Amino acid sequence: MAWKGWSEFLGALEEQGELHRIAAEVNPELELAEIAGRVSALPYGNRGLFFEKVTGSRFPAAANIFGSPRRMALALGVESLDDLPALMAHILERLERTAAPPPLCVTDPPCREVIEEFPDLGSLPLLRGWPDDGAAAGGRYLTLPLVITADAGTGEPNCGLYRVEALGPDRALLGWYPGSDGERHFRGYEASGRRMPVAIVLGGAPPLILAASFSLPGLPDEFRLAGLLRREPIEVIRCLTSELLVPACAEVIIEGYVLPGETGLEGPFGNHTGCYAPIRQAPLFRVTAMTRRKQPVIPVTAVGPPPQEDCWLAKAAERLMLPWLQRRHPGIVDILMPLESIFHRAALVGVNSALCGSVRELIRKLWEAGPLRRARVIVVLDADPGCDPARAWWQAVNRCDWQRDLIFGADGTLLGVDATRKGDQGRALERRETVDLVTARWREYGL
Ligand SMILES: Cc1cc2nc3c(=O)[nH]c(=O)nc-3n(C[C@H](O)[C@H](O)[C@H](O)COP(=O)(O)O)c2cc1C
Repeated sequence: MAWKGWSEFLGALEEQGELHRIAAEVNPELELAEIAGRVSALPYGNRGLFFEKVTGSRFPAAANIFGSPRRMALALGVESLDDLPALMAHILERLERTAAPPPLCVTDPPCREVIEEFPDLGSLPLLRGWPDDGAAAGGRYLTLPLVITADAGTGEPNCGLYRVEALGPDRALLGWYPGSDGERHFRGYEASGRRMPVAIVLGGAPPLILAASFSLPGLPDEFRLAGLLRREPIEVIRCLTSELLVPACAEVIIEGYVLPGETGLEGPFGNHTGCYAPIRQAPLFRVTAMTRRKQPVIPVTAVGPPPQEDCWLAKAAERLMLPWLQRRHPGIVDILMPLESIFHRAALVGVNSALCGSVRELIRKLWEAGPLRRARVIVVLDADPGCDPARAWWQAVNRCDWQRDLIFGADGTLLGVDATRKGDQGRALERRETVDLVTARWREYGL
């Protein structure tokens, strides 16, 4: 099912018993994040949360919506996250033949049912997830916003998931990091001395939210990619106060701009590392317009040590990444990025040694470009019988010759481990026929 927007997806989750409504009033200062964080870590009973009354907010909030493999799969219209590699392989094949279709411009969209006369970021459920969050400027956060910008020269759009710290009714700090596309666009505008149009979007089609949270070089922009993931183009509309295109089925659109050189102190921000990201200078966003659905539900997420909701966005991205990696490195059979190692910081890469060539070379290439370029640890192991952290540990500790099989990158800040079986390690333990025999006779043993 290709959900058009966030509200439509929430309706489907509710029908399937995957959404829990909380009628009690909840404080967006710490309390909401504590509830969402706890629920997202539950092995059972982990559901999406609909906060009907958020203190100080005119609108309800929804959290932990992507916070389980089942809901993440539902969001993308697949049975299981394991279906995603085939979907991405199909998309990549298609892109070799033809360009991705552009988003579809529509009129009278849901995101413009109400045009706010007096835009007020304070009317939204703004989170403080951890006590010191936003202490430098005293703001609170939109934690699941899409930030839309365009390249100063080419006009090429970008939609990135970056936190936003609201400072007042019409000002906010944009949390993109150096190296992100939003920051690249900002530098382009700064260099030309022009003000940069920006739109902050709350909600939208779930595949667009996923597409905004990861990047693979060479893929089309997030609108087109989300259209391919969704199997129908994303519907868009032009902003009222700029030329940017924004998702028509969003809950809220906040339009505005950033002036060159105008910044503020953003942070600290309690992060998935379990520590605060330090205070830093971030571009100041000024609001020019705010439009919304009549009854918007605002997406929020609790950020903290794993497992949290964002782990399942990362898991979906990992599954989509596999065929992309395989096209560049044919020896790769599977990849696993353990939730504990937070997104792209560590990867287990299962290879077919016969096709892989030099493992050392493979690790170096993975560090050169692409999603694993900043992976602090890459462990390469034989793919049969699959990538598994316990097996990677066993193989790395028991099989590796540390002098030969460790590879260091980026001046010793990145570690690669070649944990594949080497010819000089003796014959592997195998008793294939007996395995089949014992399996066939298993009942006879009464075990
Ligand atoms: C919940 C969540 C919050 C994120 N917050 C930020 C952030 O504040 N700043 C940032 O630069 N990236 C953040 N990211 C990572 C970016 O979304 C990711 O790097 C994405 O690829 C950025 O888009 P871009 O490649 O177009 O720049 C976050 C990701 C998730 C899932």
